[in-house]
Amino acid sequence: MTRSRIAGIGMYVPEQVVTNQDLTKYMETSDAWIQERTGIKERRYAHRTEETTTTMGVEAAKIAIERAGITPQDIDFIVFATLSPDYYFPGCGVLVQRAMKMKEIGALDVRNQCSGFVYALSVADQFIRGGMYKNVLVIGSEKHSFGLDFSTRGRNVSVIFGDGAGAVVLQPTTSDNQGILSTHLHSDGESAEILAMYNPGTHANHWMEQSLAAFDEAEIGQMFMSHEMIDKAQNFPFMDGPSVFKKAVVKFPEVIMEALDANGCTPADLKLLIPHQANLRIAQFVQQKLGLSEDQVYNNIQKYGNTTAASVPLALCEAWQNGKIQEGDLVCLAAFGSGFTWASALLKW
Ligand code: ACO
Repeated sequence: MTRSRIAGIGMYVPEQVVTNQDLTKYMETSDAWIQERTGIKERRYAHRTEETTTTMGVEAAKIAIERAGITPQDIDFIVFATLSPDYYFPGCGVLVQRAMKMKEIGALDVRNQCSGFVYALSVADQFIRGGMYKNVLVIGSEKHSFGLDFSTRGRNVSVIFGDGAGAVVLQPTTSDNQGILSTHLHSDGESAEILAMYNPGTHANHWMEQSLAAFDEAEIGQMFMSHEMIDKAQNFPFMDGPSVFKKAVVKFPEVIMEALDANGCTPADLKLLIPHQANLRIAQFVQQKLGLSEDQVYNNIQKYGNTTAASVPLALCEAWQNGKIQEGDLVCLAAFGSGFTWASALLKW
């Protein structure tokens, strides 16, 4: 049976370290509040003008491609996951194709926010299993720092997010002891507005009217982009944190167990769980609920914050670089986020 395996993995984080203390220059917050609620100590911010979501993705991709022992010209499909694309359109995939001087291959962008990378990996996995492609590049990258509200008004969201990128190259394998065993994808659009960036967008208040009561400050404009929207900070992400927390702590364990059950495995069989780095409290809750030891869960949100579509490949790459994953180890990737969407992938390294 043909499966896909991760043949190469890479990560990139920008040089600039921004501590919690640094954020107190812009907003009323504190290192103690941020660490207690999220576990985050610092995050990285991209260079304002010289780095973009695509350029960071390219840096991670270069490493993944080299480690796979191939060249950019060998890649035959790109899947790029991000919520902070360089342009509203076209997507970042084509910009990677151009920057890396690849052949005129297919390039697809995935807009699934925090679960974007696991969704992208699943898409790539299907192309490999089906025999259509041999070298698929999957990237998760975010430049959040360009689109956050750094005033006290936006502090519940802005302190959480950071910039960075991760990438993998998937190739086919027929080995029983290696590769992606299964992927599991879910969504529930009922709560789409709970964690969202409303504008610019084409909704013209269509969806919001049913739920405006929940957003007393949110008087969403009728136009695609207006001065009023900017004045009211409607061009920044909105998050009802407690509601996200409640759903995440149910869906994370559920989708991890779904992956384990589908392959006749138990939490005890896991060498490492790589959860989307949403919030250290969520990861700790999931660890406890599944009866996993601290050694079985990899967290690096303390250093990078929540990097959305980049968080899973960043954590996976770092865990591997730190010697936490060896050949044949059972690894579960799991994510939950805006949409809501959630997903898992079980693989043998
Ligand atoms: N610094 C200081 N005070 C703050 C900050 C801040 N950065 N942000 C909010 N506060 C204040 C609020 O103003 C509020 O003050 P008040 O009680 O005087 O009104 C108080 O802290 C509590 O605010 P809440 O929004 O209720 O904060 P909560 O305790 O829920 O913590 C948090 C916020 C950490 C986001 C929490 O809701 C949470 O863990 N949510 C899970 C969602 C999550 O982690 N999302 C990550 C991104 S989405 C994803 O990846 C899936």
